[in-house]
Parts: sequence; structure tokens; C-alpha cells
Amino acid sequence: MPEAAPSFSPGLEGVVAAKSRLCQIDGTQGKLYYLGYAIEDLAEHSSFEEVCFLLWRERLPRARELEELRGQLQEYRQDCRDLFDFVGRFPHTARPMDMLRTCVSWLGCRDPHPGDASGEANFRRAVAVTAHFPTAVAAFHRFREKQSPVPPHARLSHAANFLYMLTGKQPSDLAARVMDVALILHADHEMNASTFASLVTASTMSDLYSALTTGVGTLKGPLHGGANEAVVQMLEKIGSVENVESYLSEAFAQKKKIMGFGHRVYKTYDPRARIFKRYADELSRADGDRRFFEINERIEELMQKRVGSHGIYPNVDFYSGIVYRSLGVASDLFTPIFSIARAAGWTAHVLESWQKNRIYRPASVYEGPGPRAYVPLDER
Ligand code: SDX
Repeated sequence: MPEAAPSFSPGLEGVVAAKSRLCQIDGTQGKLYYLGYAIEDLAEHSSFEEVCFLLWRERLPRARELEELRGQLQEYRQDCRDLFDFVGRFPHTARPMDMLRTCVSWLGCRDPHPGDASGEANFRRAVAVTAHFPTAVAAFHRFREKQSPVPPHARLSHAANFLYMLTGKQPSDLAARVMDVALILHADHEMNASTFASLVTASTMSDLYSALTTGVGTLKGPLHGGANEAVVQMLEKIGSVENVESYLSEAFAQKKKIMGFGHRVYKTYDPRARIFKRYADELSRADGDRRFFEINERIEELMQKRVGSHGIYPNVDFYSGIVYRSLGVASDLFTPIFSIARAAGWTAHVLESWQKNRIYRPASVYEGPGPRAYVPLDER
């Protein structure tokens, strides 16, 4: 039986690259589940630490287990002196995602047992890297603002500690809760580009740090994690609700993509965008600055009319930027926040893939010239 010619799917659309128990997306109904738990329930009742445990151990933790994980994260978080020294050496003009990508590699260089590829050693690495991401991002921002880095608070949560280390002040309960939910919403998302990239690296039996370096580098792209920063830049450019219609008309005339819209899987509203929109509404009411929220809503209304029938709706990045802006976060830290959360998903998928590993090696359809004789230089 002749081998069927491999079919080429641009962007691997519709191609199944793995089997996984961690995350399920229903793109038609706009539903997202981590190990069967709906994202709406997790956003309402869970914490980022609990979601980390859920993704890493494939079940919700009991109280003692959750406290133990919080303690492990805190223990790694406190070990920040060397990280401060390292982050302090970056040029202040470096892009935060480039800094974070480099920090992951540096963390790998200081691993005390790099040759230990056991499940427990890799779990320890997953906890350690997840613990260090917020510290690296916050410290880098403090240095570039000519401020001293703030060591983590002994009793604050992962999300609250990020805001504390960033500002030097304990966040309000609302700000801490919003950041915690933002991390939950971004923790995992099935076979997205950065998770897939991490898995390709891990499939060669490389190490967890190399896999996450790939993940950070991949997430940085504006078509993936970088869209949230691009949305706020778009809102600043539009400036007022009155300008939205003309902006969109010009963008469509130039065949430009509207950042924060569209998704390879969701052909309806991204459930994460709904939750972010509620917080964006609440925060913009609280700080009395509704301008960006109203521009966002006007874009959504006009996009629904233009492309809603094509399955192009707001995605996770459309409202997250103005939520972070309301929390006083600099816009080039929005994608690093995405990385802080997705460290949980990247590590969980890598740990899962190593349970039954096979190196990724897809095919390609050859379109070059057929076999031919070499032509010596003086005859060309
Ligand atoms: C994330 O995969 C994940 O799960 C990712 C993510 C996660 O949690 O990891 O959910 C996070 O990356 C969210 C997406 C953030 N990116 C953006 O907001 C950037 C803008 N969006 C687009 O670039 C695009 O929608 C993608 C990249 C998200 C999806 O790309 P696809 O699936 O390859 O779709 P496509 O580019 O082939 O578009 C299909 C059609 C095209 O029209 P035609 O050329 O066929 O006529 O839809 C149009 C596109 O022009 N289209 C858009 C659009 N997105 C798609 N038109 C205008 N504005 C848009 N945003």
C-alpha cells in the first residue's frame, strides 16, 4: 500500500500533536477546563498556587498539601539575593521578556543537581522556576526605575508578592485578587504555540530550563502573548470612543489584524476575556477612569458587527491590558505577567510529556529542485 503523501496544514491547524489530561478547550461553546474544572469556577474559588498544584499533580490539593506548596514557593522566593545581583546587571533598556528568557537560562546554570532527571527533581525545578519569575520581573522593573529591588514578603501570596515586589507597597485586597485571577486565567491553555515549543525542546530529553527558555521566547511574539501590550498601544493611539470607527476602517483597509481579537481555537467569546472584562469594568469604575474601557467596548461592538459572523471575538488579551494598567503595571510588563502564569502550564505539560516521551520530528513537503550534478565554481 503506497504511503499516503503527508498533508500540510499551515500553522499545524487541526493537527493533533499530543495527548494530555491537563487542559480542555471547547472553541465552539467558549469553554475552558483545567483537569475538568471550569475556568469560571477556578477564577471564582481557587488561587494560583492551588491551580499550580492541580496542573502539576493532576488533582486539587488538600489543605495541608496546599500549605506545603505555598511554603515551597516561599522558600524559593526568599532565595533571591543572587537573582537580584544577576537582574541588576541587565541594561535598563533591555526588554523585560528578553531579560526573563535569560533569567531562565541563568537559573539552569545554578541548578545544584543538573544531571538529576528524576520526576521529583523536575517537580522541584518546576516549583523553583515558577517561584522566581515574579521576583525577576519585579526586580528588573525596580532597577530600571533606579529603585532598589524589594525582597518578597514572607506572608503574601504569589500574586500579591509580585505586586508588593513591584511597588514596595502591600497591594489592596482587590488588586491582589485581580492579579491572582489573572494568573489563574493564564496558567494553561492546551497546545498553544509556546507550550508546543516547550514540548518540542523537552521531547529531545533536554532540560526543563531549556524548555522554558523556548516557551518565553515563543510567548513574546505579538501574535501570541505580546498582544495584550499591543492592545493598550492601540487604545492609546485611538484616544477616544469617537475615533474607534475610523481607526477600524483604516485598519481593515490596510488588512491589519486588530490585536486582542481572533483565536485559532475559540470561534466565540474567549471565556477568559469575559472574566477580564468584568474586572476591567469594576476597576475602571473604582478609579473613575472609564476612557480605555469605553474605547474597548466600542471596538468590541463594531468588531462584532464586522467579523463576529466569521468567529472573530475578543480573546484573553483584549481586556487584560487595561486591567493591568488599572493596577499601575507598566505595559511592557504585561507579557511577562503572562509568562509568570504560564510557567505553571509549560512545566506541567513538560512533566506530563516525559511520562511517555517521543521526540517531535514532523515531516515537510519538499518543493525544491530535483537531484542534479554539482557545477564547479569556474563554470557557473
Ligand atoms: C493568545 O493558542 C492559544 O491558546 C493562545 C492563547 C493562550 O492562552 O496561549 O490563547 C493566547 O495567543 C491569544 C491570541 C493573541 N493574539 C492576538 O490577539 C493577535 C491578533 N490575532 C490574530 O493574529 C489571530 O487571530 C491569531 C494569531 C490569534 C490566530 O491566528 P490564526 O488561527 O492563524 O487565524 P488567521 O490569522 O489565519 O486568521 C483567519 C482569518 C483571516 O482572514 P482571511 O485572511 O482568511 O480573510 O481571520 C482574520 C484573518 O485576517 N483575522 C482577523 C483577526 N484574527 C484573524 N482579522 C482582524 N483582526 C484579527 N485580530
